[in-house]
Amino acid sequence: MNVRSSSVLPRSTTSLALAAITIALLCAAGPAGATGNAARGQMLYKGCADCHSINENGVGPMHKGVVGRKAGSVAGYDYSPDLKNSGIVWTEENLDKWLTGPQAMVPETKMFFDVPDAQDRADIIAYLKEKAR
Ligand code: HEC
Repeated sequence: MNVRSSSVLPRSTTSLALAAITIALLCAAGPAGATGNAARGQMLYKGCADCHSINENGVGPMHKGVVGRKAGSVAGYDYSPDLKNSGIVWTEENLDKWLTGPQAMVPETKMFFDVPDAQDRADIIAYLKEKAR
């Protein structure tokens, strides 16, 4: 049997085409380039829970309704003036930026914690979207 005759394209061209399709699919996943897994995000949220919870203010503000919320807007929480006056709205894209490096986004913020891995960030945001509505 002649295996090569089963394909019109030479083998190397076929795998190049597959690689291009894979890259296109990955890019279509969203601004963060990664699709979030809320179950995994719940585990990762344990790292946030040193300072945050969904329903109560602690070291950090509560996360209830955070996706789509205006930054610095939880009543009774003492924000840094910079975050309070930032005008940021917590879209998924902004949350991704924030978790990449809060100080790069709001230099005088008092949150000192970042999540370097893009997939981890996407998973945490998926969790917040689902559980902190
Ligand atoms: C070491 C404590 C600490 C950890 C850990 C921490 N944060 Fe924060 N976070 C804060 C503080 C403090 C603020 C308030 C910042 C300010 O006022 O400038 C904040 C603010 C925020 C805000 C802005 C909320 C708003 O109402 O505007 C978001 C969103 C946020 N944190 C998400 C997270 C997530 C998600 C994690 C886990 C990946 C996390 N934080 C981990 C301390 C922490």
